[in-house]
Amino acid sequence: MALVRRVNNSFGFVLNTFYCKCIVNIKKLKRESNIMRYSNLAGAEILEDYQTFAQMIKFRQTEAKKSVIIKISEVSHIEHLKQFCECYARIVNIFPYNTIDNNRFVLMECSSDKDVEALRKIAVCKASPEYAHCVTPFFLYKPRFKLHINQKTLNKDNYEYYSNFETPNLDEINQSLKKIESVSNQMMFLYNALRITELNIRLRFYTATQISYYLSQLFINLSVVPFGSSVNGFGQIGCDLDLLCKTNISSDDKSGWKKFLFMTQVIPLVDRNEQKHFLDVVGTIMRTCIPGITDVKKILEARVPIIKFRNLYTNMQCDLSSTNMTALHMSELLYLYGQLDRRVKPLVFTIRKWARNMNLTKENPGQWITNFSLTLLILFYLQTKDILPSLTSIKIFSDKSNTIDNFDWFLKWKNTVSSNDESLSKLLCEFFEYYSFFDFKTQGLCLRDGITKVKKDVSPLYIYNPFNPSLNVSKNVTISELLRLVEHFQRAFHIMVYSTEKDTLVKLINFDLNLTINNGFNNKNKSEFINEKFIPNVTDTNNLQKMEKNIIK
Ligand code: GTP
Ligand code: MG
Repeated sequence: MALVRRVNNSFGFVLNTFYCKCIVNIKKLKRESNIMRYSNLAGAEILEDYQTFAQMIKFRQTEAKKSVIIKISEVSHIEHLKQFCECYARIVNIFPYNTIDNNRFVLMECSSDKDVEALRKIAVCKASPEYAHCVTPFFLYKPRFKLHINQKTLNKDNYEYYSNFETPNLDEINQSLKKIESVSNQMMFLYNALRITELNIRLRFYTATQISYYLSQLFINLSVVPFGSSVNGFGQIGCDLDLLCKTNISSDDKSGWKKFLFMTQVIPLVDRNEQKHFLDVVGTIMRTCIPGITDVKKILEARVPIIKFRNLYTNMQCDLSSTNMTALHMSELLYLYGQLDRRVKPLVFTIRKWARNMNLTKENPGQWITNFSLTLLILFYLQTKDILPSLTSIKIFSDKSNTIDNFDWFLKWKNTVSSNDESLSKLLCEFFEYYSFFDFKTQGLCLRDGITKVKKDVSPLYIYNPFNPSLNVSKNVTISELLRLVEHFQRAFHIMVYSTEKDTLVKLINFDLNLTINNGFNNKNKSEFINEKFIPNVTDTNNLQKMEKNIIK
């Protein structure tokens, strides 16, 4: 159960979030002009106007409600479309983009949702009696006659850049990295090249709002919100869009309160079977009624039942789950950690890219480490370096500093630990070193307290769930995958130590078969090291396999 209490005062508001047993109290502030001032890394992004997670979500949702998506056939139509729409609505922004299947769209932001309503009123549907036409939030701009565009007056510069969704290819990244001298700057480059763009964030929230729009016709208190890497600050171009159905409590300010009520049909979403049934229905509605939705797959027997689908118009691969508030709180926590120090995001982006290119993480979940668990490994390491506070410290320091003065709790926490202004490059190197020699055999990572703790079972990799310490977030990782991961940590550590600065990141993110860890650790030492460090008291292969099977279960 999570209780969110808002306390208003003249400076802004503090968001207190209490999570079940863990009782984390994250106090955040409305305006934080320069939260990154605690670290002095050059070239990193400075947040001018910091928003709390809840404020960011609200801001993006409002933005999405004021936006429309319009399909066009020619770039030259944009200026004409704009002039046409301006007769009915106030236009604030226009973002043209191409989808993977080469359709052209514009995302048009109006100044309010009333403008969107005005556009809906003038749009027509050429309905024919043989078909039922579904309601749609998408428009098509189709000039009836060939437009005679005056090339002199056409403001092509504004729209010359058509965004697309291609992930930067490795060759291009390599070429650019080779031109950058320092490893820290190479990491900053990677971060800027890979992070999701402004348009992409808008399309993610638009996609969520679109599904909300349909479901709100059927369910009074249901909205669809993005979570995971789309909103936690660690999203890379092309990452999936995780969506969840959020049930809201009713507001009690209506005059009919308690006297004049809706008679509703209720679905108990806490019941797993009902949850599956609910998603089944939602999946069918999506497949049948929502334009642009394709490849709908109902994966209802998974640990977390989901509907997978693709939105062709916004170019998003989506996973929709039923209510899962822990996942949303987890996104909030990661978002907060990403904001506390400007080195966090470039470090996470570099390590995620490295892991993906080494095939340590994969698109689908399986026996290997997920991006989410990998991110927790990084955040835990930063806790041990006194760069990030543990959840317990967040609670203690936010309770102590009951003032509203800019992340006061964080400043106070900073003053109690030794200051750390190590470069990104050093942090990366030490990250690989830390996990190359970590005692995975007996120790688990506890982000709640920022310390290692004895593992609670034989899972090879044990990361205590920050909000529920009785759960292991990385239970899926098998011994063979952990061994592979550690081999790569060692290999990466070796590259960091022995490469020239200019070559370092290129070598790290490009798999080179010739470069094995033997260069740094001789074979005998390696196998001894691995036996000693990882293999619990189960020596024969059969037992090992049995154990892996149990863990996967
Ligand atoms: P990418 O999609 O790989 O970019 O990263 P992601 O962070 O979005 O990961 P993923 O799509 O696998 O999961 C989405 C979110 O679900 C994560 O950010 C977490 O908030 C949550 N999540 C994922 N796995 C777990 C888990 O094992 N336990 C818990 N409690 N939450 C999880
Ligand atoms: Mg995701």
